[in-house]
Amino acid sequence: MAADAASETGVQHAGAGDPVAGKLKSDSERCQECHGQDGNAEDSRIPKHAGQFAGYLVKQLQDFQSGARRHEIMVKMAADLTPADMADIAAYFAGQPVMQGRLEHENPRAKSLFESGDPARELASCESCHGKNGKGRVENGVIYPVIGGQNKLYLRRQLLNWKLGERKNSTEAVMNKVAKALADDEIEALVDYVSGL
Ligand code: HEC
Ligand code: HEC
Repeated sequence: MAADAASETGVQHAGAGDPVAGKLKSDSERCQECHGQDGNAEDSRIPKHAGQFAGYLVKQLQDFQSGARRHEIMVKMAADLTPADMADIAAYFAGQPVMQGRLEHENPRAKSLFESGDPARELASCESCHGKNGKGRVENGVIYPVIGGQNKLYLRRQLLNWKLGERKNSTEAVMNKVAKALADDEIEALVDYVSGL
């Protein structure tokens, strides 16, 4: 990749916030208590933010504020954040080394869905949007978040929520279409695989 493209990606990744301020603003009792000091939440039901795209984190916080995304705890946590708070906190977590999983066994079914999708069902591969090993990408202003190495129980909850229509804040409902095309045992296999990337 050319140097220019790489630095542009860096800017998109961390956003315009101030990571030093963000570290203080997200201090233990507010966000780090649950999401981890370095954004690697230990509780598998809570998402990691380490190395996540800042713009994605900000969008989720805005969606919790507006009601476009629902969750009892996070709606309260996001309620009084200003736009500057969101940008700073997001910059802090985005600047941490990207979340990393550990693949513990072969999982050919999930690997195939992840890398190739299933043309028979018009199911696009996860990789085509979320990038190699699910480490995320940005294209035409749409942020495809990091999912590789994300916590397993959190991933399962999100895929089930997309499938049931409980979560519907993705552009053009892409994730609802993807998740609806997946059988429950495929979701099980995928979250096992993706959390290990
Ligand atoms: C008491 C625990 C707790 C605290 C404190 C907390 N969170 Fe969360 N957060 C969660 C849980 C649980 C979820 C998963 C919500 C879901 O399942 O949809 C979440 C989800 C999120 C998401 C969505 C991430 C994604 O990958 O889509 C963001 C962004 C977020 N939190 C930011 C914050 C920020 C910023 C703070 C501090 C102001 C904070 N959280 C405080 C528990 C917490
Ligand atoms: C057509 C593009 C596209 C494809 C294909 C796709 N995704 Fe997504 N996905 C997205 C977008 C865009 C978002 C961000 C939604 C938002 O902004 O809230 C997302 C979000 C997610 C999230 C939520 C991440 C978080 O931190 O909460 C998970 C989990 C996810 N995708 C898993 C998958 C899996 C597994 C596959 C393959 C079976 C897949 N996606 C295929 C576009 C796609």
